[in-house]
Amino acid sequence: MGDVVSNESLANLLKEERRFAPPADLAANANVTAEAYEQAKADRLGFWAEQARRLTWATEPTETLDWSNPPFAKWFADGKLNVAYNCVDRHVEAGNGDRVAIHFEGEPGDSRAITYAELKDEVSRAANALTELGVSQGDRVAVYLPMIPEAVVSMLACARIGAAHSVVFGGFSADAIAKRVADADAKVIITSDGGYRRGKPAALKPAVDDAVAREDSSVEHVLVVRRTGQDVAWTEGRDVWWHELTERQSAEHTPEAFDAENPLFILYTSGTTGKPKGILHTSGGYLTQAAYTHHAVFDLKPESDVYWCTADIGWVTGHSYITYGPLANGATQVMYEGTPDTPHQGRFWEIVQKYGVSILYTAPTAIRTFMKWGDDIPAKFDLSSLRILGSVGEPINPEAWMWYRKNIGADKCPIVDTWWQTETGAMMISPLPGVTETKPGSAQRALPGISATVVDDEAREVPDGGGGYLVLTEPWPSMLRTIWGDDQRFIDTYWSRFEGKYFAGDGAKKDEDGDVWLLGRVDDVMLVSGHNISTTEVESALVSHPSVAEAAVVGAADETTGQAIVAFVILRGTANADDEGLVADLRNHVGTTLGPIAKPKRVLPVAELPKTRSGKIMRRLLRDVAENRELGDVTTLTDSSVMDLIQTKLPAAP
Ligand code: WT7
Repeated sequence: MGDVVSNESLANLLKEERRFAPPADLAANANVTAEAYEQAKADRLGFWAEQARRLTWATEPTETLDWSNPPFAKWFADGKLNVAYNCVDRHVEAGNGDRVAIHFEGEPGDSRAITYAELKDEVSRAANALTELGVSQGDRVAVYLPMIPEAVVSMLACARIGAAHSVVFGGFSADAIAKRVADADAKVIITSDGGYRRGKPAALKPAVDDAVAREDSSVEHVLVVRRTGQDVAWTEGRDVWWHELTERQSAEHTPEAFDAENPLFILYTSGTTGKPKGILHTSGGYLTQAAYTHHAVFDLKPESDVYWCTADIGWVTGHSYITYGPLANGATQVMYEGTPDTPHQGRFWEIVQKYGVSILYTAPTAIRTFMKWGDDIPAKFDLSSLRILGSVGEPINPEAWMWYRKNIGADKCPIVDTWWQTETGAMMISPLPGVTETKPGSAQRALPGISATVVDDEAREVPDGGGGYLVLTEPWPSMLRTIWGDDQRFIDTYWSRFEGKYFAGDGAKKDEDGDVWLLGRVDDVMLVSGHNISTTEVESALVSHPSVAEAAVVGAADETTGQAIVAFVILRGTANADDEGLVADLRNHVGTTLGPIAKPKRVLPVAELPKTRSGKIMRRLLRDVAENRELGDVTTLTDSSVMDLIQTKLPAAP
């Protein structure tokens, strides 16, 4: 657990005065207005009951929340619905079968448009196929696929027959697959021969073969999508080609209604230590909040918008904002298979231009990478279709926010900085694009129907201007229901730190207006000479210097100050890493931006930073480097050679 976060030290650091009002035309036509906050405040459960009516229920729920056994919530428990019917069939029945659901863009440049009517056929065939393989309601199916439409089809096919999916990110190893499959006790794995990454086919099936070959594997069948055409090893009787099995199925499948609390999926998050946590999400409440937030925060107009979320389906963002939220709302969306720099660094902007993307949802790590690549790259493309920009995954540094707004959003698109977690299932804190006057770097305010605040060590709510721990004070429809197979760990991890409140694990502060600023994971907060200093704020101060593209800051043990601030920085194009003057300049820049206490003791220019596969900086490893320790677990790194690079470049301590 992190150190004590004191109010006074956090409150007086970053000052951000810039404000951006919503564009008048957007505000005038917004899906959600300021009134929603009032309505939800007056009757929170009534508000969510009304949002649940966005869905089509086979049996309408009469009960909204059952919180009789906290922290185990039940939402809409006496309602019944079919999640896949809600995401697909009902749009066809409403006469929108010809609307494109997915514009698929393969990395090599192949593309495919799938209408809602076609999606209905594909999901139905896949549901029939899974049934033939012996999968039924209550079973688990693992999905290990690249970013291809079959990933969405697989998830929806599971939902359609009431089985829970467990998507494992396509970049994970055989070991990670084996652990997750064993924990979920999955019967079937859906995979592919491979997918395209950085201009080449990258194999996927060998990792599955390796995982399934281990003793006691629960897997009876491996269903294999052909994507790249590369050779695959084949186990007769166990392995089945997706195309062979699905092509002979009927495109008719009657969706059965399941309980609102029927498990929809398990998604594993690493957590800070130990065994991955299988986060369990269920059906009715999850879909309600995924659909409502997608409608409200992106102001989606399904007839005219083209929406693109750049996340991978292996993360919760891909679950809630590629598969469930957008499809429940009848959106037209882009799905892209590959990396942003293949075959060139303008690939994302080329896609925005090609499909006329109007709503873009991406991550700070991507935005900082685009900053590093240079303003001239997006400038070559027509991005005028964009009207709303979203960010998720980490605190967004104010300068990255400003860059995004100016270079991608033509200084007119509202930015919605959405705070949430795998555990929360859907967005919790975010501006509303037609309502909120935005502030660069702040997620601002709990969404209508959500209760969040910041508390101190004694669980007392901090006043405006104070800092502490982010907590959620009321249950919400898309909350995790438990950790799969480990109710006690669920209680211990989230509900034991503060009585009756959900502990998110993030540091946060409230500004004078009561808006929330996320400060990073509490484990990353530094304690320097008795002051708590947020890594996020020091990083943002560094990124606000014109020579810095990215920064990662850690507290290293120090004899005099307890911890000393060590900063790793990636410089922009022309800056020279050996320039002593620049290092001094950067230290002083932080000193003048945040105050002398936040001045890093050391600033180390590096070529790369260690990141998890979902793009989060792994400060734990940098702390090991800064304290001259042997490196901890590096298995979740995208590229473990990055650490060698950092260590060999490391100058001797001053
Ligand atoms: C953690 C959850 C939510 C989907 C992707 C990540 C950090 C996420 C923000 C944001 C500041 C953010 C938090 C959170 N985080 N969004 N907008 N501002 N921090 O899901 O892997 O479960 O990670 O990501 O630290 O606790 P996840």
